[in-house]
This record gives sequence, C-alpha cells and structure tokens, in this order.
Amino acid sequence: MARLSLWCLGGLLLCAVHLVAAADPLPNCSYPAIYGFGDSLTDVGNGIAAFPEKFKHAEIDPYGIQFPMHAADRYTDGKMFIDFLAFGIRRRPNYAILRGTAGDFTYGSNFAAYGGSARPVKVWNTGEKFTSPFSLDVQQQWFQRYKIRLWFYESPVYNPNGRLVQSLPKLSSVNSSLFTVWAGYQDYFWSLYEKKLTVSQTRKIVPEVVKAIEEHIEKILAVVEYTPPGFPTMLMPPATEVLIQNQLPLGCVPALLTVHGGSHAKYDEYGCLSDLNKISKAHNKLLGEKVEALRKKYPAAKLYYGDVYGVYEDILKKPADYSEYIHHECEAWVWGLFCVVGEREGVAWEGVGGVEFLSGDEILRDS
Ligand SMILES: *[C@@H]1O[C@H](CO)[C@@H](O)[C@H](O)[C@H]1NC(C)=O
Ligand SMILES: *[C@@H]1O[C@H](CO)[C@@H](O)[C@H](O)[C@H]1NC(C)=O
Repeated sequence: MARLSLWCLGGLLLCAVHLVAAADPLPNCSYPAIYGFGDSLTDVGNGIAAFPEKFKHAEIDPYGIQFPMHAADRYTDGKMFIDFLAFGIRRRPNYAILRGTAGDFTYGSNFAAYGGSARPVKVWNTGEKFTSPFSLDVQQQWFQRYKIRLWFYESPVYNPNGRLVQSLPKLSSVNSSLFTVWAGYQDYFWSLYEKKLTVSQTRKIVPEVVKAIEEHIEKILAVVEYTPPGFPTMLMPPATEVLIQNQLPLGCVPALLTVHGGSHAKYDEYGCLSDLNKISKAHNKLLGEKVEALRKKYPAAKLYYGDVYGVYEDILKKPADYSEYIHHECEAWVWGLFCVVGEREGVAWEGVGGVEFLSGDEILRDS
C-alpha cells in the first residue's frame, strides 16, 4: 500500500506542476520517454557500468533490496525520484545509458552518474583522488550523440533493413518527452565533506554551479543542427519539457552533520546546520531566477522548478503530516528522498544523499 501511495504521490506532484503550467483540468501525465541528468540522486547505473570495481557495492544488498529487480545499481535501497516519475508515467524502470546488459530503453534513458557534478570535473578536482568524470558536460555529449544514434537507426540509408536489436523511442518523440535536471549536489558535497573548501568558500561557488546547470539546460533546449555524411543539414529535436530540481538542505545531510557539526556549530530548530543550509538557499534562489529567465527566453518550453528543499523541510517540520504515507516498518518514501520511520514518526535518510530506506536496520547498514 505504501508503495502504491507513493507512486501516486510521484505522479501527483508532477501532475500538480503540470496543472500550474498548462492550466489543464485533467493533465495527461503520460510521456513517450523520460530522461534524467545529474548525480547519484538520479543515476540508475552509469557509475557502476563505467567503474564496476569502484562502485560494486551498488549492486549488492542493501542497495536495491526494495527495488523490483537486482541489480538495481542505485545508491539507495529502493527507488529514487526519477523512478517514481518513470514508474508513475510508464510503470517501467529507467535504464542507465551505459547499461550494456539487460537494459530496456523503450521509454528513454538516464544520463546521470554517481558523483556527476554540475561543473566540469577538471574545474574542481585537480587532485589525485578518484571522482567520476561524468559531469554535466559529458552527460550533454551523451545526450547529443544519443539523438544522432536514434536518427541513424531510423535512416533508410544508414539502416536500410530497419534492423534494430533494441526497442528505442523515436527521435521525433524527444520534443514531447520529460527531462529532469538535478545537479550541483556533488559540487557542494565534495567541497564540504572532503573539506576542500571552507563553508564560506563553498558558498562562493554557488554562481558557478548554477551557471553550469543553466548552460546544460540551454543546451538540451537548443535546436542543434546536424549534417549526416552525404545528407543535407537537419535540425535535431530539442527537449521541450524539463523538470529542474533544486538543492536539498545540505545542513541536514548526516555525513555533513558529522563533519561540520559540534559544539561551535550553529544548528537550526530541526538540528540542521544553518550555515550549510544557507548554501542550499543561495543556490535555490539563484536557480529559481535562472529558471524564470529561461522561461522568458524559451516561451515554447515548459520548465518546471521542483522544490526539493521545501519538501525536505516540510517533512522535518511535520513528519506526522506525512503519516498517510507512513507504515509500520518504514515502508514510506517521499519524493524518493525520505524514509519516514513509521511508529517513531521520525525522518531518516541515507548518510550521503537522501534516498529511500527500508528499515532502521538498513539505515544503520547503509550510513
Ligand atoms: C495520454 O497520452 C498518451 C501518450 O501520448 C496516450 O496514449 C493516451 O491515450 C493519453 N490518455 C488520455 C486519457 O488522453
Ligand atoms: C518534434 O520534432 C519533430 C521532428 O523530429 C517534428 O516533426 C514535430 O513537429 C516536433 N513536435 C513539436 C511539438 O515540436
């Protein structure tokens, strides 16, 4: 039951934004395909596909134990936000673009990667410590190439027998598909957790991070010219419907509470670190302004702003209000971000990000 309610919740949230945007009394939340960009809050397996040794734990318990099939390859016990959307829209999982075996790409794909930052990796990681190279600039290349590939497979010249071993969306469905962009978390988390930057220095990277997200969105919205060998130049369909998610409260993330907490730290009434939350707030304010500006610049596009921070905060304030979704053994997740712990009416989440959990036991094993 909990599962069902939350699938609906994912769908409803989307319907709600849809409603606002289109003033449509009965919105049809059906899309031909869904595509995600970002980091481990969205990655469904690109990280482990590229670096199996590095990320091998993502395919074993407790990761994915709540997901319909193993290996789920997600940095969570169950579903993430993108999954609630994908299941809500099509009731089928969303697969990583790099997934070589047993992927189903009929309803889109996923370009996000664990540790994928908004800014290009070389900008912020000059050290020797491993980080994923798949920042938004790389994910952008994957997306542009993906469209070209769809065209090749559909071309009677390049694929005369129409041979296709995979079920893929039509290129012409790209402009009616749903895209999500949820990035920046890695940029801040790395700085703060690894103490590469101080809190106030991290606050200063906000404009760069938001700019990288804005540039990425503009590139997916752009009508790109492509000249296939021996063909006239053609226009590739752009994304037209994008859900842009804001930053969760960094000061409430358990790993950051551990690293930055203590007797000198300033806490808010929910036990979160005020200075870190200011970074999220600054990010969200600027991101909101950019989304507004992009709406004006691209009037034909539908750009939704997903307020993750607001939802997170609301649950911290009033966990009992979410009791409709609370079941006795912590089978509740909200936005793919939270497990609300049933009888204790508390909120718990994974140590590094903020994703679905099964039970108190799993929380301990995971964090
Ligand atoms: C919703 O959209 C899908 C795909 O475009 C379509 O197949 C379906 O019939 C639509 N449903 C309604 C109720 O309009
Ligand atoms: C989407 O792109 C295709 C070309 O790939 C075009 O024929 C169609 O009109 C476009 N639809 C919209 C809604 O822009």
